[in-house]
Amino acid sequence: MTENRFRQDFPVFDRKPCVYLDSAATAQRPACVIEAEKYFYENMNANPLRGLYELSMAATDAYAEARSSVRGLINASGDEEIIFTRNSTESLNLVAYSYGLNFIHEGDEIVTTVMEHHSNILPWQMVAEKNGARLIYLEPEMDGTISDEELDRKISAKCRLIAVGHVSNVLGCVNPVKKLAQRVHDNGGVIVVDAAQSVPHMPVDVQDLGCDFLAFSGHKMMAPFGIGVLYGKRELLEKMPPFLTGGEMIEYVRLDGATWAELPHKFEAGTVNPAGAYGLKAATEYLLNVGFDHIRKTEDELTSAIFEGLSKMPYVHICGSSDPLRHTGIISFTIAGVHPHDIASILDTDKVDIRAGHHCAQPLMDYLGVGNTARASLYLYNDENDVAAFLDSIGKVRRIMGLDA
Ligand SMILES: Cc1ncc(COP(=O)(O)O)c(C=O)c1O
Repeated sequence: MTENRFRQDFPVFDRKPCVYLDSAATAQRPACVIEAEKYFYENMNANPLRGLYELSMAATDAYAEARSSVRGLINASGDEEIIFTRNSTESLNLVAYSYGLNFIHEGDEIVTTVMEHHSNILPWQMVAEKNGARLIYLEPEMDGTISDEELDRKISAKCRLIAVGHVSNVLGCVNPVKKLAQRVHDNGGVIVVDAAQSVPHMPVDVQDLGCDFLAFSGHKMMAPFGIGVLYGKRELLEKMPPFLTGGEMIEYVRLDGATWAELPHKFEAGTVNPAGAYGLKAATEYLLNVGFDHIRKTEDELTSAIFEGLSKMPYVHICGSSDPLRHTGIISFTIAGVHPHDIASILDTDKVDIRAGHHCAQPLMDYLGVGNTARASLYLYNDENDVAAFLDSIGKVRRIMGLDA
């Protein structure tokens, strides 16, 4: 079986050979991203946006270039609509605290889904509780589809905010963001999209989707840890108060008050992460170079091969759609009689890395009637050898657990 040609770009596979199937948790990093971060520290390391000397100005430029490259990736209309955060969780909390607490009122309805990551549930529970709004959950069919009837039932004229994951981190299904955006816009409300699992895998165009806010994490798209993004429409960001206050986000501070810096700096309090942003720029370029068509093809082919292999094991149940092409490379499954943690531990002995647990989606686990699942998730560096090793290892699990002869 031929090795994936992109695999050699990832130093970890040389140093610690493994079958890495946990990219939905965090992706591996190509050498160009690791080098970019190193290059920043060796050549541009100074606090950006502050110093008037060459090194600091280089850091400022690098940070600004990174913002532009993210703007291009998601087709925002201006760089000032890109706010750097630590991760998706912080981005979603920024919207909840700054927009939610100030623009969602008593009696308003917030609509989300039962398949959200906790990071896109807890901030809205907080807003609903503090402001007396009602939080309503859309319930998908077992294949992940949210039907139009469900939208009609749950989205009323009182809905002022919809918070939805673009791609579920458990089911891998793609949610109907465009349709949801239209519904909430008809009410004069806003849509917040958790794109943690979509931006690394597919072209995302915030203008085409009609997003008001969109959050994602660098580390799931091969960038360094600690850098994330919040996209927000300029007119919304302009009317929102700062989320955090302190250095760099002010225009002027007096003893009796302050005025805020222009966008995007109003939302980036304290020293920022320019090395991470520079790494994110390298990751963005790498991603675009590989191309989303190629990523999609790789993930779809390998998901299909996994589905075919697992279909020969009647004790395996795959969550979500029976169509591998509706999984965005995410396969959550259970094995009858075996706890998912045991599945992951047995696979680990074969150096096959998968995830087991509730995947920070406990309401979805309850809804699906499973406590936990095992999850294999693919990315552009996986290949047929990984699939073969995974299937081989899965095939042994029940025997090792003493369930089959
Ligand atoms: C769909 C989804 N949303 C949000 C998050 C949170 O991402 P982070 O931990 O980078 O903030 C994750 C992480 O797994 C996710 O899969």
